Amino acid sequence: MNSLLDLPKAELHLHVEGTLEPEMAFALAERNGVQLPFAGVEDLRSRYAFTDLQSFLDLYYACMSVLRTRQDFEDLATAYLDRAHAQGVRHVEMFVDPQVHLRGGVALEDVLDGLLAALRRAGDRYGMTGGLIPCFLRDLPATDAMDTLERLAPRAAELLGVGLDSAEVGHPAAPFAEVFARARSLGLHLVAHAGEEGPPAYVREALDLLGVERVDHGVRVLEDPELVARLRAEQVPLTVCPLSNVRLGGVASMGRHPLPRMLDAGLLVTVNSDDPAYFGGYVGDNFTALRETFGFDAGALADLAANSVRASFAPESRKAELQAQIEAWREAAGS
Ligand code: ADE
Ligand code: ZN
Repeated sequence: MNSLLDLPKAELHLHVEGTLEPEMAFALAERNGVQLPFAGVEDLRSRYAFTDLQSFLDLYYACMSVLRTRQDFEDLATAYLDRAHAQGVRHVEMFVDPQVHLRGGVALEDVLDGLLAALRRAGDRYGMTGGLIPCFLRDLPATDAMDTLERLAPRAAELLGVGLDSAEVGHPAAPFAEVFARARSLGLHLVAHAGEEGPPAYVREALDLLGVERVDHGVRVLEDPELVARLRAEQVPLTVCPLSNVRLGGVASMGRHPLPRMLDAGLLVTVNSDDPAYFGGYVGDNFTALRETFGFDAGALADLAANSVRASFAPESRKAELQAQIEAWREAAGS
């Protein structure tokens, strides 16, 4: 089989702050005079033994405090985009958590300008396409999300969509319905994390109350056959992150991951990396883990890449170009 790193793919579930490798965290801490509460790179890495989503989020938010300037955001995203390119990513829809940075006293303009500059550079250098999806934190009040959306609104044309993330269980989607309605009126695409730790009801709420076009994670949907039938009929994309699910304990091991059963159920499943610096691999590594664990052949892996392009918010002409590249890879692989 030709290399999985050459398989053209779209990454649709990627938190840019989750690409902060420990070495860069310490370099930025020094550059900005920020004290990280860890002895060093190895000490920080040794804390990556997560027990659940919250145990990860605590560390993730702590590390983000090193991101202070426009240059920091540009450097962070550039490092990710270079890595992603090397793993076959040709289109990326990048999440960012603006509320965390705003609370830390960082200007929204610096966050957006830095990330957008990095995306432009990846376009110039690699022909990579994509955009930015700011996410609202569901464990903060919906009024905070609405304030943040209004601050984003003047730059809506530069954004792809909005999302919803952070601690899921106990933080239902319902209070965010108005925020998402307003985002839709601004012409933004809508996505939300759901069914990562929470039960299928969280996925239904995201669909019915927020009107999302894609569900981020959704690994618990198989518990609800009626929901599965709906997701299949409507071909709602699910942005699944296998290494993340195993690292956060939502799934006991890669061998028990529901992804093959989700595909068998006819769901539009995509493979993504979520927070790759923390979960042991970038998107190509997720594809490799699936091949090694489930013995997926080149055809099955090309199908997953094709799903990622289909589920993306790329213009139809770009989708056609990427699908042709995937078909060329499939042919070269002889399947
Ligand atoms: N923020 C960053 N990664 C996340 C995840 N996997 N789930 C919810 N919120 C997140
Ligand atoms: Zn996520």
